[in-house]
Amino acid sequence: MPPLPTAHSTEIHHAAHLLEAGKLVAIPTETVYGLAANALSSSAVAEIFRVKNRPTFDPLIVHLAETQDLEKYVQQVPPLAYVLARAFWPGPLTLVLPRRALIPDLVTAGLPTVGIRVPRHPLTRALLQRLDFPLAAPSANPFGYVSPTTADHVRQQLGDKIDFILDGGPCEVGLESTIIAFEKEKPRVLRLGGIALEALQEVVGMVEVQSHSSSQPQAPGMLSSHYAPGPPVVLIESRDEIALYQEKTPPSQIGFIGFQASSPLLPALHQHILSPSGHLSEAAARLFAALRALDQPDIRLILAEVFPEVGLGRAINDRLRRAAAKRT
Ligand code: TXA
Ligand code: MG
Repeated sequence: MPPLPTAHSTEIHHAAHLLEAGKLVAIPTETVYGLAANALSSSAVAEIFRVKNRPTFDPLIVHLAETQDLEKYVQQVPPLAYVLARAFWPGPLTLVLPRRALIPDLVTAGLPTVGIRVPRHPLTRALLQRLDFPLAAPSANPFGYVSPTTADHVRQQLGDKIDFILDGGPCEVGLESTIIAFEKEKPRVLRLGGIALEALQEVVGMVEVQSHSSSQPQAPGMLSSHYAPGPPVVLIESRDEIALYQEKTPPSQIGFIGFQASSPLLPALHQHILSPSGHLSEAAARLFAALRALDQPDIRLILAEVFPEVGLGRAINDRLRRAAAKRT
């Protein structure tokens, strides 16, 4: 159990009070900031959809204080779900499981299953422990936009629409949770995220990854066009491609997202090199802030290089591909 963050007890108290009154609060998690409401109240949850401008066919993730509360909200939990929960909770893993009736239809978009996770950010854990209900929380961004990884990101877009932002500093992981569903007790990854595929496979053996497709409207977090900033994003396999884009767009209007080294072809100002030391976890933590920073009027094109397709690099590439799919 993490030490109770006493320095923040006033803020936690305030957040709890608002949530008990059916209001929305933005909460820090280790992945991204969430826009939280009482998961057992349809009217509170309806506010999430309204504020995010989110279609009601996109189900929400429910956040619990403790793994031991799991069976209050879901049933028929396969043994491997417990193995995964034991290995990765609290942490960036969401398990999709058959829901119990007390979870409102709105939370699950009418699906018979619900996505559940136990987050590990100490402020949100302390908040959840105070409440006698779980929190439904999607990422705290307008629907389809890049997820927020700081309280400022939330403030900039939703500040005037929500009652309170619990500021827990920048998110440690910076990518949304890995989502796993079960088919006949066999796990399958629905969304790559903060737990690397290799880490999952170490615990449960081979795990299939569902390739996303726009033909599955029940889960837009898996749609190809999502997580997108304003300017078009183009993925490049090789840095030689930068020269081609420079012929059409002035270099001063091109933003660049790279892994370890900057490009001499572009001005330094709009280059975001995510981890000069080559750590994919550091790159992941900085990715969304870089995409946001490049969403500005003087940038007309964002070039992003493909990251190594291992560990968190897979989830980074997944988010970049979806950001790039926005306009194609
Ligand atoms: O890290 C995270 O998961 C963050 C933090 C706040 O916990 N939350 C997050 O929520 O990314 P959101 O709403 O942006 O993405 C939730 C996605 C949905 O779009 C959908 O793809 C999937 O979770 N999902 C939720 N419930 C599901 C269900 N019953 N079946 C299939 N997919 C589901
Ligand atoms: Mg989201």
